[in-house]
Amino acid sequence: MAIESYRLNVAEVIEETADAKSIVFDVPADLQAIFAYTPGQFLTVAVPSDQTGLAARCYSLSSSPHSGRHQITVKRTVDGYASNWICDNLKPGDRLRVLPPGGIFTPKDLNVDLLLFGGGSGITPVISIARTALEKGSGKVVLFYANRDETSVIFARELTELAGEHPSRFTVVHWLESVQGLPSLEGLSLFASYFGGYTSFVCGPAPFMKAVTTALKELGVPRELRHQEKFVSLGGNPFGDVEEVLAAQATLAEADDADEPDETEQPAAPAFAGPVAIEVELDGSHYSFDDWTGDKVLLEFLESKGVDAPFSCREGNCSSCACIVLEGEVSMKHNDVLDAEDLADGIRLTCQALPLSDKIRISYNG
Ligand SMILES: Cc1cc2nc3c(=O)[nH]c(=O)nc-3n(C[C@H](O)[C@H](O)[C@H](O)COP(=O)(O)OP(=O)(O)OC[C@H]3O[C@@H](n4cnc5c(N)ncnc54)[C@H](O)[C@@H]3O)c2cc1C
Ligand code: FES
Repeated sequence: MAIESYRLNVAEVIEETADAKSIVFDVPADLQAIFAYTPGQFLTVAVPSDQTGLAARCYSLSSSPHSGRHQITVKRTVDGYASNWICDNLKPGDRLRVLPPGGIFTPKDLNVDLLLFGGGSGITPVISIARTALEKGSGKVVLFYANRDETSVIFARELTELAGEHPSRFTVVHWLESVQGLPSLEGLSLFASYFGGYTSFVCGPAPFMKAVTTALKELGVPRELRHQEKFVSLGGNPFGDVEEVLAAQATLAEADDADEPDETEQPAAPAFAGPVAIEVELDGSHYSFDDWTGDKVLLEFLESKGVDAPFSCREGNCSSCACIVLEGEVSMKHNDVLDAEDLADGIRLTCQALPLSDKIRISYNG
């Protein structure tokens, strides 16, 4: 099943650095409610492709909700397809298919003290959180921002301005690989040790995220104060319709690949056939059903019952659909985004979840 997509006009293209551009979308008044977002959320865009019809890619909103803007910032990936297509081709007046905002990398409370870590393009959700917290919240905001060199720093001017506007609440520490080398675990640990009790948000290249997360864990920062966003490319197509056009092509490709195992696919534990009694807490509403069966993933079952459950990629890639399992257990067909700690905390992806017990209780409210 595809999510409803919308064609948005590109209002502006801003060159941020030699290899990063911001794209501002024009969201008409009748779509404002659908495209309302919280800081740290992302849009999914359909990048046209001669080969596959489209390539679906997620891009965090670098603007803040109170600005009224919908701006994403795309950094070229070496040998990447979509990021280079966007940076090479998009211009004001173009139209792009876009899915509404999604994602759970967003502060629940803007009044707490925030410790933000951004590496390279990982600054995009982080600056949205910083801008929003400084404008709408009351806590302190500390940003550790790592880049290759001075010319690759996205939003350098905006960050200086923000620091000037909020001198007693915001500080940004720039770390340049060209000057200081890669940020070390010890250095990150020392830095973070000054900010006990702050809620952290981490986004950047995998080794950077791993070092920051390890440092925070070693400092004993509790799980509920640690959030991270992984930048990965979607493998499939949540826009749906192109799949049909390309079905014949895919069948041929499958026949060619029939002997090749798919290493990313993990076999799910056999589902409990059901019927399963399930209770769901979502945005202050409670639902209970007693007829979930193992032939439908939880997201699809909830949709069939008219529940407006969150989702984006439907592939286990983005975490928009994540819930916490409070009672019972589910298996997941595929998971590219939750780590061992998330799983130990009971977090599961509803777009991939099949029942393993006859009574299950979940909450979307984290
Ligand atoms: C939640 C989230 C937020 C993100 N936010 C940002 C952000 O703010 N800024 C940012 O820069 N990135 C962000 N990303 C990463 C972004 O989604 C992409 O992963 C990144 O831009 C790299 O995509 P790419 O297509 O350029 O590179 P790749 O995905 O590495 O490109 C190679 C892939 O494209 C395919 N391909 C090659 N040629 C074609 C073709 N002609 N047609 C179709 N497919 C082709 C190949 O098969 C291969 O799979 C985010 C990711 C996530 C999940
Ligand atoms: S909708 Fe993306 S992981 Fe479930």
